[in-house]
Parts: sequence; structure tokens; C-alpha cells
Amino acid sequence: MQIQFVVGNWKMYKTQDEMRAFMREFSQIYRASSERTGRWLGLAAPFTLIDAARACCGEFQLPLHIGAQNMHDASSGAFTGEIALEMLRDRGAEFALLGHSERRALFGERDEFINRKVKKALSRDFRALLCVGESQPPAGLEETREILKRQLSECLRDVELPAPGSLLIAYEPSWAIGTGKSADLDHIQRAHEIISDWLQQRFAGQTIPLLYGGSVTLRNAQSIGALARVDGILIGGASLSAGEFSALASL
Ligand code: PGA
Repeated sequence: MQIQFVVGNWKMYKTQDEMRAFMREFSQIYRASSERTGRWLGLAAPFTLIDAARACCGEFQLPLHIGAQNMHDASSGAFTGEIALEMLRDRGAEFALLGHSERRALFGERDEFINRKVKKALSRDFRALLCVGESQPPAGLEETREILKRQLSECLRDVELPAPGSLLIAYEPSWAIGTGKSADLDHIQRAHEIISDWLQQRFAGQTIPLLYGGSVTLRNAQSIGALARVDGILIGGASLSAGEFSALASL
């Protein structure tokens, strides 16, 4: 198993009490197997839980990095309902998901805006987990290639990488998100090849971990994680259960 990154995305779920119960349970189950993996574990929490989740990780000695699910590229301003990197960092967030397909589809985020966020995060040494992927099942691999290349070149336009590991990419075909059915292994493999070839050309020699997301569960994580060029998994629904998330983190 070569999975090096396991990241949960809680979306708009959990209150403080629910988060605390999760952390307590997670600490009871996970501790036993944490020694043998050098894995980076992340959790993209709702904004309201970031500082309390960090505190819980300290209290229960959990090796979890807490991040956010979105951020604005401005440092401050008249942007009702938005949040700045400086505010996230102030509460202890260590990374942010950027360009998640739900942000794109439900809140109208465009590649150009996502590009500004990526540039902002990387210019401030804040880890960015950029999500790309088709919004509909593609007609064929060429369509996937075209979509991925377009998203990558627009979202990463003029981006400079400050340090290894500062940028991670998640391939998340939105037609596989929340459906209970991941993309098939061959498709994941090919999409990851397309992305990693593109990244090699654009950022030769730099390490950019590549995660797969979209209905990852205990049933399919092992076989997805065994694919070449899959460095990690991004988990939505299954990360809400401490039992399932800790089992995925311990694979
Ligand atoms: P899912 O969500 O695992 O529930 O499909 C993944 C995601 O949206 O990041």
C-alpha cells in the first residue's frame, strides 16, 4: 500500500459536540496502528470547527492536520460570507481545499478565481489541495484529457511552488462524488497519468502528490491506493465516521 496522504472532507457536517465525539473515538481506535505509517492525515473541517478540532487533536494526541474547505484570495474586504487565509491561519488551519467540485457546481467558482486562491495560498506558504475533475461522465478519455489539461493550466497559471508538498492535487470526477460508486480503476489510473504527465512538464522535478477522491470507502480504498501515481485519497462521506476514517487512515 503506497498511500501517503489521507484527507477527510467533512463538508457541511458536524457540530462541536459531534466533532469532539468523533475525535475521542478516533483517538481510541487509531492510536494502535499509527506508528507503522508515515502517512500525512488531514481533515478539511467546517470553519466553525477548525480551532476546536485543533485543540482536540492536541488533547487526544492525534496526528491530524486540520484544514479548511475553501478560502478567498483577498486578505480582507467587503466579501460577505467569505473567509481569508489570514483568518484560517489565525484559527490554526494548515491547508485548504481549493476548487472542490461542489464549490464549482453549486457556488459558481471559475478556474480564474481558483487560480487566484492557489497563488495566494502558495505565496503565503499555506498548503493548497487543488481539486480537478470532470463534471459529467466523459464521452471518452480524450474528453477527460482535455478537461483536466484545461483546468490544470487555468488553475495553475503563473503558479510558483515555494516548497515541496506545498501543492497537492486531487482528481475528483464529480460524477463519482457522493454516489457510492467510485470511478473505475482503469479510468482513475489514466486520469492520474494525464495529470502527472502534465505536472511533470510544467513543474519538472517537483513533488506534487496526487490524490483520488469520489466515493472512497473501505471497500475500494486498497485497490485505488495500489494504482501507480495515486499518492493518497480524499474522502467525503466515509470520513464522517470515526471508525471508517481511522480504518482508512490505517490501511
Ligand atoms: P465522497 O466525497 O467521498 O462522499 O464521494 C468526496 C469529496 O467530495 O471530496
